[in-house]
Amino acid sequence: MIDPGTDCHCHILPGLDDGAGSLEESIALARRQVSWGFRKAVCTSHRVGKYPNVPEVVIATCKKLQEELEKRGIPLELTPSMEYRLIPETWPETLEKGWLLPWEGHHILIELPIHKASRIGNIVPEDEIKRLLDMGYQPVLAHPERYLYLDMDRYHSLKDAGTLFQRNVGSLEGMYGEAVSVRCEALLAENLFDMIGTDLHSEHYADFFDSFGFKVS
Ligand SMILES: [Fe+2]
Repeated sequence: MIDPGTDCHCHILPGLDDGAGSLEESIALARRQVSWGFRKAVCTSHRVGKYPNVPEVVIATCKKLQEELEKRGIPLELTPSMEYRLIPETWPETLEKGWLLPWEGHHILIELPIHKASRIGNIVPEDEIKRLLDMGYQPVLAHPERYLYLDMDRYHSLKDAGTLFQRNVGSLEGMYGEAVSVRCEALLAENLFDMIGTDLHSEHYADFFDSFGFKVS
C-alpha cells in the first residue's frame, strides 16, 4: 500500500523533461506539494525518445534539489525515479542496461503512448508487465484514463496482467478535457484505480488543483 502522503508521480526535477525548467521552479512546485499535504515525492522524470534520461543524472539532480529543499526548510523527501514509456526507442535499452529506479519497495511507473497507439510498435504491454513482475518489480501504469484508444476489455487485460493503476489529480475535474474526465469516471466505477498522483509539471497544474481545493486525504 502506497502512503497517501507520497506523490508517486511528478516532474519537479529541473531541466530534465517538460516539467520544471529551473531550480527556482522546482522549489516552487515542491512548496505546492507540501501545501496539499504531501510529505514525500517520487520524482518521475520522463524516459522517452525526446527525454532519454539516464539514472546517474536523475539521481544527481534529485540529490541537489533535496539539498536545496533542506536549506530552505521545505519538508519534502524526494526519491529519484523515472516514468518509463513502453516504446521501442527507449524501453528495450532501459531493460538491457538495468536503468530501473524503484520506489516504495519495488514500484516502477510505466506509461503507454498518450495519443497514438501505433507508437508502441511491437511492444505488448501485458508482456512487459509480466516481465517486470518476474524481475521482482511492481509496475504501476500512469494515468490509464488518458489512453482513450483503450477499451474496457483492454483495461481489464492490463490489470489482470498485474499492473497497478495510478490516476492523475485533475483528470476527473477536466484537466485533460471532457473525454478523459468521462473515461476517468468509467474506470472509477469499475474500481480500477489503486493510487493517485499529481503528474505535476508546472504551476499551471498546481493552480488548477487549487481551483477545486485538492488536498491529500
Ligand atoms: Fe508524467
